[in-house]
Amino acid sequence: CGIFGYINYLTPKSRKEILELLVNGLKRLEYRGYDSAGVAIDGPDNKDVALIKNTGKVQMLQTKIENQSADLQMEEKIETHCGIAHTRWATHGVPNEVNSHPHRSDDNHSFVIVHNGIVTNYREVKVFLQKKGYYFESDTDTEVIAKLILMFYKEHPTYSFRELVEQVVQQLEGAFALCFKSKHFPGECVATRRGSPLLVGIKTKTRLATDYVPILYGKEHRPHCHEKIPVLPRSESTSEFQPLEDKEVEYFFASDASAVIEHTNRVIYFEDDDVAAVKDGALSIHRLRRSLDDPHSREITTLKMELQQIMKGNYSHFMQKEIFEQPDSVVNTMRGRVNFDNMTINLGGIKDYIPEIKRCRRLMLIGCGTSYHSAIATRQLLEELTELPVMVELASDFLDRTTPVFRDDVCFFISQSGETADTLMALRYCKERGALIVGITNTVGSSICRESHCGVHINAGPEIGVASTKAYTSQFISLVMFALVMSEDRISLRQRRTEIIEGLKNLQEQIKAVLMLDGKVQELAKDLYQQKSLLIMGRGFNFATCLEGALKVKELTYMHSEGIMAGELKHGPLALIDDQMPVLMIVMRDPVYIKCMNALQQVTSREGRPILICEEGDEETSSMASKVLQVPRTVDCLQGILTVIPMQLLSYHIAMQRGCNVDCPRNLAKSVTVE
Ligand code: G6P
Repeated sequence: CGIFGYINYLTPKSRKEILELLVNGLKRLEYRGYDSAGVAIDGPDNKDVALIKNTGKVQMLQTKIENQSADLQMEEKIETHCGIAHTRWATHGVPNEVNSHPHRSDDNHSFVIVHNGIVTNYREVKVFLQKKGYYFESDTDTEVIAKLILMFYKEHPTYSFRELVEQVVQQLEGAFALCFKSKHFPGECVATRRGSPLLVGIKTKTRLATDYVPILYGKEHRPHCHEKIPVLPRSESTSEFQPLEDKEVEYFFASDASAVIEHTNRVIYFEDDDVAAVKDGALSIHRLRRSLDDPHSREITTLKMELQQIMKGNYSHFMQKEIFEQPDSVVNTMRGRVNFDNMTINLGGIKDYIPEIKRCRRLMLIGCGTSYHSAIATRQLLEELTELPVMVELASDFLDRTTPVFRDDVCFFISQSGETADTLMALRYCKERGALIVGITNTVGSSICRESHCGVHINAGPEIGVASTKAYTSQFISLVMFALVMSEDRISLRQRRTEIIEGLKNLQEQIKAVLMLDGKVQELAKDLYQQKSLLIMGRGFNFATCLEGALKVKELTYMHSEGIMAGELKHGPLALIDDQMPVLMIVMRDPVYIKCMNALQQVTSREGRPILICEEGDEETSSMASKVLQVPRTVDCLQGILTVIPMQLLSYHIAMQRGCNVDCPRNLAKSVTVE
């Protein structure tokens, strides 16, 4: 889910402008979920809170606002106003209107909230509130939060908005990022997080007076107990942050930076259990507890992202744009790190830890989805260049198994968003056990990034299309660079390293050449799009391409697809082969070429008619198939970067043929911040 909150102070804006701003914020966050969307703003008399929600994509909400809310479209300017908005990826309750956010405390809309995450103890809280006479209208976990704050408000009418929120969050278990609005506290907004991402963008006309916001700590409090939902001591508030002398300011609370970048590049990333409140234009950040190493302030970060990076430009879809950005994104990943003149690699974010990593017991690479595939793609090279045992793990399964982890393990957490809940939970699990934590992420300031000891930013630039493309190739290169760093003093590996670095140097041009296959791939998609299934086979360095290709096909086209390890063909999948079943095989002139050819023969002798991805100029292999895509040859361990791109293009074109929504496939979300 994506949440967005906007609050202006002495910066006049009409309701129409505010609604546009909220809807636009949601559009930027839509990749996080698009089952339904909603906004809450003050009603025309400035007293009531208006809720507008709709199932489906943000565009449908926008149409509803334009058609049905003429009274909200007024031009009259409001100096101070708080609006909150949400785009949902359904976890609890089907995606209908009543389950959509914002959720409300009562018919009067005393409190309205938007939530990203899952409240795991919502049933207990719900029963407690129902006994007190609260009525629930939705099937969501979120609604308990709206009712709970109303309960505290009734019991403690003198509490500030922020104090009420503090009471509420102490009753909640699970993960959340929340934004609250209340008609009892007009022009105020309170936001908080635990486990789910949240930041605030600060926009002022003049320069900010400071580059930090002090944190205000409260008194120690008792641990909570669910049966009684006790009211806890109030936290102390000493002073508040005033960023400006002239006081005109706008704040943008959002799940991620892409929603605020068009307004401001000054943001604060919140930490778990921060409670941020805006009142009279002042932002304050509070925490209930203070431990010894807690800082005194939260830094205001300047984002490097450009608006243009999150726009589609001339492309029809973000995914298409991101596929075609790869000649540049791979270079950005290597920029300042790979020195092609003296053949050295410098990974600044990890350099100090290399001696420790070299002494480790094993390397563990942990991720989900496409990020997991990047670990599979590079495992063999890591084993070769580090001579360490390398485990590759799906974060969810790793946790299910309560896998043994030791102090001398080095655990890599690979995540485009840096927020995937499964991966983050696995990170915390390993950190508690004393392992060294290395983050490989594309999102500066993300939770995984902040909770790692060291890491590599893959610098692929914002990825908006739900199906990951350029992040995969950049994760791949980041892990290759790490393998190269680990082997830099190994004389016996000098030649191998040189060959790989040469390979990296030529990648940009070779990716451009692969992208020229687009038209041919589109033709292939026309042959395949009505099929029920597509098998993708390969082995060795190209096995990951099979898994990633099949994932792309499933995600985007809803067609069944399976990545098959060619070595396993004879152990089962061969039974699927006949003259009808579409099979795509990756056969490169690498150490497993002969074995791949055996698999190819097994397929053709069962009347299968495979489509081939093979090396440029390899006419002998090409002659074995009716349809062939030839890609340039690179060093074996980098070949997967070049073979995955035709698969990205193929899934894109099949999806287009089938009329699927490429950027927002059904039922999926880009950033899955729930376990
Ligand atoms: C979701 C996305 C996938 C992605 C996976 C891991 O399931 O739909 O495309 O690969 O999460 O995301 P991460 O941000 O951790 O790489």
